[in-house]
Amino acid sequence: MGTKKIVSVFFSAVVLASFFSACKKDAVTDPSASKNSYDLMATKIFNVNCVQCHNDQDKQGAANLSLEQHTAYDMLVNAEPTNAMAKERGLFRVTPSHTELSFLMLKLTGNLEPGMGVRMPHSLPALSEKKIEFIRQWIAAGAPKTGSVADESLLEEEVANQKELEPLPVPEQGFQLHLQPFSISPTSEREIYVYENNPSTTEQYVNKVKVRMREGSHHFILYTFNGEFYNVKPGEVRPHTDKEMQEPRNFLFGAQTPEAEYAFPDSIAVKVAPNTGFDLNSHYVNQTTKDYQGEAYINVYTVPKEQVKHVAQPFLWVDNGFTIPPHSSTTRTYEWQTFTKPTHYIVLSSHAHKRMTSFKIFIKGGPRDSEMIYDNSDWQTPTVLTNEIILNPGEKLRSETTWYNESDKPIQFGFTSEDEMNILVGYYWQ
Ligand code: HEC
Repeated sequence: MGTKKIVSVFFSAVVLASFFSACKKDAVTDPSASKNSYDLMATKIFNVNCVQCHNDQDKQGAANLSLEQHTAYDMLVNAEPTNAMAKERGLFRVTPSHTELSFLMLKLTGNLEPGMGVRMPHSLPALSEKKIEFIRQWIAAGAPKTGSVADESLLEEEVANQKELEPLPVPEQGFQLHLQPFSISPTSEREIYVYENNPSTTEQYVNKVKVRMREGSHHFILYTFNGEFYNVKPGEVRPHTDKEMQEPRNFLFGAQTPEAEYAFPDSIAVKVAPNTGFDLNSHYVNQTTKDYQGEAYINVYTVPKEQVKHVAQPFLWVDNGFTIPPHSSTTRTYEWQTFTKPTHYIVLSSHAHKRMTSFKIFIKGGPRDSEMIYDNSDWQTPTVLTNEIILNPGEKLRSETTWYNESDKPIQFGFTSEDEMNILVGYYWQ
């Protein structure tokens, strides 16, 4: 007990000293030139990486720490940690001017003693070096609530200096499509469609698709589409419009990560008719202050017809009937399509946007009723199930999707990265 008291007296002195040094720094910065470091940290780091767990509503589960913009400052600066070991060591969550005595820093770098819990963000990839450095600079400068004290350029997305995209090797059996580079203006998003003719004049059996794209892609979808019939010119870049959404195209393949691949067992393939071309749909979000390029290579691998025992059906099923009220966590239960024949799901995945915190899929009906088959909490890199799941007539897939909406507005289904989605995607055969 005695030591603890001494420790906190020492801290008060540190806090006072750093308060003055922070004031001095504020006086020399022009507030109109750059934004408050605290606000940038809250909006560009905490809102993106932390508030799904650390919010006003559900914080009990996350060490009673809310990192919403209006609460985080008081909950961090000179605030005692919930963690007993950190408290015993005399750490505050943030000790102004002392990164080494700030539990927040230790939680982000993973420099933790036993008993101090796990590295943050919990069970997700660590923050980038640059984001951690931004927080470090803010603490080192006295952790002020206002004023620009940390290097703003650290928060430009890692993608700012884009590397050239190395082409995929062309498949031996099959063909390659190339979505040519297209530009996305600073701090904006862009979704486009580009039609390409089918390079083959005969029916094809696609057994694997692979994509490689420049970083920063929100999604890429390859559709089969009879562009000629609808008078769409090959190679032309078409913006995403309501009219485009009405066009009858069929989902063939989708990806969210810079490298992605779906491959089926040798005897299973998707059939593509010779009169059908391909629509390449790409959506990029540019969070940097520089111009940015999107680009993708898509390899379509085919197998001879004789090899194919089962023709797989790609699917992308959409549920758009939900609303997520502001400042709350909402779970949507949805029951998907049923079939009258036994159905073999060979690939199953989900798609949602950044406010999704958990996406679970269960079997409904039959002997495995309520069995959970899919559990994903990473919206950017969703889990892809590739073990076969057979559903008999009367059985179906039921999903439970949870989002946390930290904003002041209700959020619904929509196509920008600020809207949400509730989608099942994959392939089955019957
Ligand atoms: C998936 C949920 C989840 C996410 C996302 C998450 N946290 Fe946590 N956080 C927790 C849980 C659970 C604890 C308590 C267990 C522990 O400390 O390991 C915790 C504890 C902490 C603590 C210790 C607080 C104390 O007083 O003991 C800090 C600091 C923290 N988180 C910061 C962050 C930051 C910053 C982010 C975002 C970069 C983040 N967390 C993202 C779940 C999460």
